[in-house]
Amino acid sequence: MDSLHSVSVARLEIHGATLRYSALVGSGLIEQLGDRVRRRLPGKTCGIISDTNVGPLFAGRVKRSLTSAGFKPTLITIPAGEKSKTLKQASAICERMIAAGLDRQSFVIGLGGGVISDISGFVAAIYYRGIPHVQIPTTLLAMVDSSIGGKTGVNTRDGKNLLGAVHQPSLVIDDVDVLKTLPCREFNQGFAEVIKHAIIADAKMFEQLQSWKASNPLGLQQLVRRNVKIKSKVVAKDERDRTGDRALLNFGHTVGHGIERAGGYQKFLHGEAVSLGIVAACAISIKRAGLPPWQRDAVVGLLQRFDLPARLPPNFPREKIFDALKFDKKFEGGKIRFVVTPRIGAAYLTRDVMLNDIREAIDEL
Ligand SMILES: NC(=O)c1ccc[n+]([C@@H]2O[C@H](COP(=O)([O-])OP(=O)(O)OC[C@H]3O[C@@H](n4cnc5c(N)ncnc54)[C@H](O)[C@@H]3O)[C@@H](O)[C@H]2O)c1
Ligand SMILES: [Zn+2]
Repeated sequence: MDSLHSVSVARLEIHGATLRYSALVGSGLIEQLGDRVRRRLPGKTCGIISDTNVGPLFAGRVKRSLTSAGFKPTLITIPAGEKSKTLKQASAICERMIAAGLDRQSFVIGLGGGVISDISGFVAAIYYRGIPHVQIPTTLLAMVDSSIGGKTGVNTRDGKNLLGAVHQPSLVIDDVDVLKTLPCREFNQGFAEVIKHAIIADAKMFEQLQSWKASNPLGLQQLVRRNVKIKSKVVAKDERDRTGDRALLNFGHTVGHGIERAGGYQKFLHGEAVSLGIVAACAISIKRAGLPPWQRDAVVGLLQRFDLPARLPPNFPREKIFDALKFDKKFEGGKIRFVVTPRIGAAYLTRDVMLNDIREAIDEL
């Protein structure tokens, strides 16, 4: 624990072979941003990248805190939503930064959800061949997932996240107060990634989630902390996604991505599609990894507790999910690399899953 202006904050030190940074989890952290950044970064000028929903809510406070600590921030606001995660938008941001006189001594702050995490990180990775990146995630999903791990990027016409770079942040500020304005559906979708973390790595958290209440703010801080720890531990083992350790974080995502794509990225939010993908991955795990069926039922019950979908609507174009899976090109001889869970709290990558197993699981959804 560390405290500045008497607010208690948990500091997580994230270490790996080529990365070292802190994630601070607490409340009232935005007001302390300037002081906290000054302790870590020598630059004076910075770009704050935000979106049209988040900027009006928090950018004023972020700017004030930075200015009173002696920084010169330039706010760049882009339209909210996935459509902004493009190379064109990244290029427009870079041009605004050049016009504002930002250089290799400057740094970038990403203030927003996962879209902003990804595009601001990408801009930080390419601007003057790489400048420091500070993440201020404002969705639960961004706090527990996209702000940790250094994967940055943008979409192309043909698919999501096809262009990008691995660029680790210098500092992550998780101020749970910002979640108060997050719409309920957006808040809940973050729990799909939280429940995924519980299934692959933390049986105790799974149990605690079964009686978790959003009304307890400390509960939320602890939850974010626990999830940042889980994700950063997995990432530290496999920073560049080469050894297969990081693949465990894809639990529920093979079918989840297929569902997102089949729904034209309109029907389901990412976390909702992942929720359905988790249910499918549990069905496959019963068949291929010996997951006890009652544990699948417990997973479904927990997802539903956070208003996440466990069944596809009857008229959903299921065939399209297969087309999307094939687009992923991960099949070799009718088999696919797939993450399964033998029991809640553990997961492994296997090559034993057949295309037909996935077909059956989707039919049952
Ligand atoms: N890099 C990674 O490792 C990684 C991991 C998971 C997801 N992602 C990416 O994250 C993105 C999805 O993230 P997301 O769901 O956070 O999307 P998002 O950034 O679009 O945020 C969701 C919506 O909530 C609004 N919003 C954000 N914070 C708010 C707040 N505090 N109050 C009110 N409104 C707020 C946003 O303006 C947006 O409309 C996808 O692009 C996905 O590819 C990346
Ligand atoms: Zn995800």
